[in-house]
Amino acid sequence: MSDIATLESELTAAIGAAKDEAALEAVRVAALGKSGSVSALLKTLGAMTPDERKAKGPTINGLKDKVGAAIAARKEELGAAALDARLASETVDVTLPTVEPAAETGRVHPISQVIDELTAIFADMGFAVAEGPDIESDDYNFTKLNFPEGHPAREMHDTFYFNPKPDGSRLLLRTHTSPVQVRTMLTKQPPIRVICPGRTYRSDSDQTHTPMFHQVEGLVIDKGSHLGHLKWILEEFCKAFFEVDSVKMRFRPSFFPFTEPSMEVDIQCRRDKGEIRFGEGNDWLEILGCGMVHPNVLKNCGLDPDVYQGFAWGMGIDRIAMLKYGINDLRAFFEADVRWLNHYGFRPLDFPTLAGGLSS
Ligand code: DAH
Repeated sequence: MSDIATLESELTAAIGAAKDEAALEAVRVAALGKSGSVSALLKTLGAMTPDERKAKGPTINGLKDKVGAAIAARKEELGAAALDARLASETVDVTLPTVEPAAETGRVHPISQVIDELTAIFADMGFAVAEGPDIESDDYNFTKLNFPEGHPAREMHDTFYFNPKPDGSRLLLRTHTSPVQVRTMLTKQPPIRVICPGRTYRSDSDQTHTPMFHQVEGLVIDKGSHLGHLKWILEEFCKAFFEVDSVKMRFRPSFFPFTEPSMEVDIQCRRDKGEIRFGEGNDWLEILGCGMVHPNVLKNCGLDPDVYQGFAWGMGIDRIAMLKYGINDLRAFFEADVRWLNHYGFRPLDFPTLAGGLSS
């Protein structure tokens, strides 16, 4: 075999054996590079006589072309194999669950969610949010709200008292959010339109009572406020909160020391295999207490009952959260069980808004 034929078969073998593009490039440089074996042969043409060149030229140039073509073909092969390997190793299983970004892994507690929902609904009606302390004076929790000393209504509140101070007065854990009404009337001039969500405390514990729970109070004081306004506000609230087009309400006479007249409100519902649906059916469910603010309360808070009148209502937040989201044990709200929260909680970036949907 001639030298050229030997070189050709060596190069063909080396090209075929190149495992990747880098190895192939090394073969190319060794053959066709500046000091490569084929380039060296090409250089010999210059020193040949015209006859020799005529005889050997086509073979040497032919070798160069064949080697070049073999390298190009192998390069294509290797490229296709590399792509196949990459496609095989980088497959995406679209059926796998997505990994949640860190910012979205926490969950918003249903109570916080419901407070945000309430706030969005009442803010839309022009209400501000007012707050007061959990530790209250007996005066704001009871006396200014027209619970006279020794009045039996005080006993109904199962109050947690602190030890008496030297002057005999006792602080307490507020038993309702109504003292925030007092604080608001004492510091703001009418017209007043506030809601007061917050924690409340009573010495009581079973499936539907916990020693700490949540209420939201509403208060409107103006010169011409009347029960018609109250009824409209509560109806609009119930429709927006329970996300139904219409809801029937029933106002029953009741008693609260701080309102006159006082009422309890039931809303129409249908109980269906343990589920409750609002805005339909023939059952009634009590959801709140309300009434016109008692003239004594207005006077106790420095407002003239001959000029101003208003209405108020109070509602259990935990209760309406349980109703809306089908949670049947109140105690679970306060057990801080992360599995429960993952199930009943809300995504942190889905803020409830009237436009965007409250609970979606
Ligand atoms: N404070 C009452 C309670 O805890 C609820 C309530 C009833 C509040 C009537 C009000 C109201 O403002 O007008 O039982």
